This record gives sequence, structure tokens and C-alpha cells, in this order.
Amino acid sequence: MKKIFVTGGTGYIGSHTVVELQQSGFEVIIADNLCNSNIGVLDGIEQITGIRPAFEQIDLADEKQTRDFFSRHRDVEAVIHFAALKAVGESVQKPLEYYRNNLNSLMNVIGCMREYGIRNLVFSSSCTVYGQADVLPVTETTPRKQAESPYGNTKAMCEDIMRDVAKVEKGMNLLALRYFNPIGAHPSACIGELPNGVPNNLIPYLTQTVAGIREQLSVFGDDYNTPDGSAIRDYIDVVDLARAHVVAIRRLLEGKNKANYEYFNIGTGRGVSVLELIQAFERATGEKVNYRITGRRAGDIEKVWADTTLANTELGWKAVVPLEETLANAWRWQQHLGKMKK
Ligand code: NAD
Ligand code: UD1
Repeated sequence: MKKIFVTGGTGYIGSHTVVELQQSGFEVIIADNLCNSNIGVLDGIEQITGIRPAFEQIDLADEKQTRDFFSRHRDVEAVIHFAALKAVGESVQKPLEYYRNNLNSLMNVIGCMREYGIRNLVFSSSCTVYGQADVLPVTETTPRKQAESPYGNTKAMCEDIMRDVAKVEKGMNLLALRYFNPIGAHPSACIGELPNGVPNNLIPYLTQTVAGIREQLSVFGDDYNTPDGSAIRDYIDVVDLARAHVVAIRRLLEGKNKANYEYFNIGTGRGVSVLELIQAFERATGEKVNYRITGRRAGDIEKVWADTTLANTELGWKAVVPLEETLANAWRWQQHLGKMKK
């Protein structure tokens, strides 16, 4: 059984990917410092797959801890590097923490991979690297723009590090997945997103509003140049996204990659406005969303969605979960969280 090292594997996207990896016959070992997740996530993974993944609490921004981990796990065949800080607003307030954590963890991981002869890496990048693109949908050849936030900048810089390392480390295969907007939860409601405090992202804020935890959802702007005036994103189901990692890992393990640094858009290819999303949620769940239109949020872009042709043809991956099913899963997860707190 091939062993995959998943950093940040108790986090939102990491935990769903661990499930898909295990269900595809891979052995998983997780390292996470639990700065934005908790150990109980392992129970959720075990409930779904019947397998409790190996876990170590490690700070990957710490070189010594990272090297110690790799020195004890020489049989790892590939790494998926999710571990990062990801709150856009917080990154503006704490740029050094974000650069230190997100850049050092990637450099430590790649450095140790080189040292211990582990060739294959899949990295979590983001559509944030495109900024407000001039032409939509964005393809992988769409020029990247200067990031709006230190968080976004760490993603662009991590991509650059991978590109530069790949040029000289010909034996290494590095692959970045540029996620669009991941939403939803596992249909079992055993794992999902665990937002910390007041959510910044749309779906956790929406589900918490419907659950009565928040009073009202603010829709940030209805004066954008879009059909209904609200901003447009490409919302990708987290299980679909998790499956993309399994496909990417297989591509590298089977040597099917065309270059030793590659990057792919991972979205649905469909743009959905905030107001359309609210309507879809109401249809999917039968619940009413209490919302009001407010002003635009600083730093928001107007619209972005992916051209997924490359992922479809090269990776053989496609998003398949219908939006309403994703939203029903997000609601089921919110209800599950409510029951846990009682
Ligand atoms: P998350 O916060 O739920 O998961 C990240 C995990 O990494 C957490 O469990 C956290 O404890 C861990 N971590 C952070 N720094 C660490 C360190 N130094 N050492 C060890 N563990 C550390 O976030 P997520 O939504 O699952 O995101 C996963 C990855 O995908 C991140 O790199 C994120 O930037 C990227 N991404 C996320 C989104 C999104 O909307 N969620 C979009 C694009 C890209
Ligand atoms: C944000 C980040 C992006 C990051 C992603 C996941 C910015 C500019 N971008 O994307 O880099 O990868 O989160 O963490 O912050 N909205 C509302 N009301 C709310 C919340 C959001 O109307 O209460 C709207 C937003 O204006 C946006 C859409 O919903 O149009 C999605 O917002 P959000 O979930 O925060 O994701 P992004 O801003 O797209």
C-alpha cells in the first residue's frame, strides 16, 4: 500500500482528502500542529472509512521538527501539503506570521523531500493568484496578478518556489492545484469545515445565520457588473476537490505528468452569484435565508470562474456534485455542529 504524507490533514480540505485517499487504497500519515483544527477530526475520518489515519502533532514551519518527522518516515511516496494559515483579513494584520508559516513550511517540506528522496508533491494553491482577471473564465495561461493580501501573496510565492526548485531538481515532481471556492461537507456529516469565531466566508456565515447563530447574512454589494449585481465565484464541492488530489497523486506516482512543475485550475467551470447561491440554498434545504444587501467588502473582486479544460483533459478529473447537493451537505454539517455543542 503506497503511503502518502498529508500535511494539514485534520483541516477542512485535508480531512476530506484523507478520506478519499483511504477509500482509494492509500495509506495516510497526517502531520498538523492543530492551530486551526482539532484531533476529533480523526474520529470523523475513522467513522467514514473505518481506518484511523496515523497522526503526529508537528509544526512544519519548524525545520527541526519537520526533518525529524521525515527521518522517521522514509517509506512515504508522496506528500500533499495543505498546512497553511488561510485567513485573508488576518494576513493583512499579521503579514510576518503568514509569510513565516506558509513559506517556511513549504520550504521545509520540499527540503526534506529532497534530502530523503521523496519525489512527489501536490500543493494547495488558490485562484487568488489571478486577482480580477481581464478575461473570464481564467485558464492556466491567464496572467497572475499582484495579490491583494499577504495570504494571497504566499500562494503566488509558494508557486514560484516550486517552479524554481523544479528547474534544478529534475527528479522531483511538483504539482499545484489552484482551488476556486471550496464549500460543502462530506455527505455523512462526519467531517466538514470548522470555522473559528465569526466566519468570513460566505457559506459558514450563511449556514450559521439559518441556524440562528448569526442574525443576518450581509450580501456584500449588488452594484457589480454582473447579471444580478452580486459578485460571482466558482464554488467547488469539497469532496470533488478532495478527489482532484487523489487524481493528482496518481498522475505523479504513475509518472504521467508532462513536466516536473505543473498547475491546474480546480473549479466547476460555472460562475454563481451570491444571490443565486442563496436561492439555491433555499431550494436545496427548504430553509429561508435572512439577508440584506450591504456595501461591497474591501478587497473583493467582482467575478471569477475557472476554465477547467486542462484538469478535465489532462487529469481526467471533473467536478460532478450538483450545487444544491453541496449546499444540502453544508446545511447538514451545520446541524451536526449544532448537535455537538448541545
Ligand atoms: P484549514 O485551516 O482547515 O487547514 C489547514 C490545516 O493546516 C489546519 O489543520 C492547521 O492546523 C494546519 N497548519 C497550519 N499551519 C501549520 C503548520 N505550520 N504546521 C502544521 N500544521 C499547520 O484550511 P483549509 O481550508 O483546509 O485549506 C487547506 C489549504 O488549502 C491551505 O493551504 C489553504 O491556503 C488552501 N486553500 C484553501 C481555500 C479555502 O477556501 N478553504 C481556498 C484556496 C486554497
Ligand atoms: C476569499 C479570499 C480567497 C480565499 C477564499 C477562501 C478574499 C478577497 N479572497 O475568497 O483568497 O482563497 O476566501 O478562504 O478575501 N460574501 C458575502 N457575505 C459574506 C461573506 C461573503 O456577500 O458574509 C460574498 C463575497 O463578497 C464574495 C462571495 O460571497 O463575493 C464569496 O466570499 P468568500 O466565501 O469570503 O470567498 P472569496 O472572497 O471569494
